[in-house]
Amino acid sequence: MKRAKITIVGAGNVGATCAHWAAAKELGDIVLIDIPDFADKTAGKALDLAQCGPVEDFDCKIVGTADYAHAAGSEVVVITAGIPRKPGMSRDDLIQTNVKIVGSVAEQIARVAPGAVLIVVSNPLDAMVYTAWKKSGFPTNRVVGQAGCLDIARYKTFIAMELGCSVEDISALLMGGHGDDMVPLPRYTSVAGIPVMQLIPADRLQAIIERAKGGGGEIVKLMGTSAYYAPASGTVQMVEAIVKDKKRILPCAAYCTKEYGVGGYFVGVPCTLGAGGVEKVIEVELNGDERKLLNTSIEHVKELVRVADGCLGRAG
Ligand code: LAC
Repeated sequence: MKRAKITIVGAGNVGATCAHWAAAKELGDIVLIDIPDFADKTAGKALDLAQCGPVEDFDCKIVGTADYAHAAGSEVVVITAGIPRKPGMSRDDLIQTNVKIVGSVAEQIARVAPGAVLIVVSNPLDAMVYTAWKKSGFPTNRVVGQAGCLDIARYKTFIAMELGCSVEDISALLMGGHGDDMVPLPRYTSVAGIPVMQLIPADRLQAIIERAKGGGGEIVKLMGTSAYYAPASGTVQMVEAIVKDKKRILPCAAYCTKEYGVGGYFVGVPCTLGAGGVEKVIEVELNGDERKLLNTSIEHVKELVRVADGCLGRAG
């Protein structure tokens, strides 16, 4: 069987950790790309990771480079390029810088890997997915953002911690943008099939929801920079769904028009992810309160996209 080719742009903490998870899961050959100033460092990270193969028993070619030609023919391209948050910064503070970086990456990828599915991880996520879509010219089903897989993993982790149960038994749904107004949905959360609201009192559950919503900021405060293990792990969950055509139903930033009444923006919704990228957006029934929370989050996404559009306009 031909191995998939997975390109990861941005060889910083998130990108290098994506390469690590993807290699460990033997998902395909990996191309790690960063800017020319970091070419040696990127080559070194790739070589270091390749040398884990004999220990961890994976066979993948891993290349670290500044040359986009190596990305030719990739099935999946992960964009992690851009600056991360520092303490006191919101994801939105990164927009001016990261629009330029993500826009230029998307253009270069479109030239060498025109058939790829793009997974965007850079922040502010919802606006960066939009930027990558605009600049790549790809159809909407082949541009998707990673946020929900991370956010839901945080939510599930805190529920498992509260109950002292296995994370494997938790099933949950979370929607909206990748901001502090994301929407975890307790009505769609269960533990081994038992509705979570029967297991955790409302006030404790609300505290868990708030912690999950601010989960990125909690780590920035502790580490002085953005999280990377869980963001990378969530990203590679999506890579796996695509390269193995698994048709996983995962919360992703997908393009929605009439779905949820969004009207043409990328927002976090449950979707079917397979070889074709986003193969379906799934609409679930929401009550009045859930709808209100989702609308607030969508309004925030729209505002960010307006700013991104302004930056793209100025950049020509
Ligand atoms: C976070 C960053 C990666 O939520 O957005 O940790």
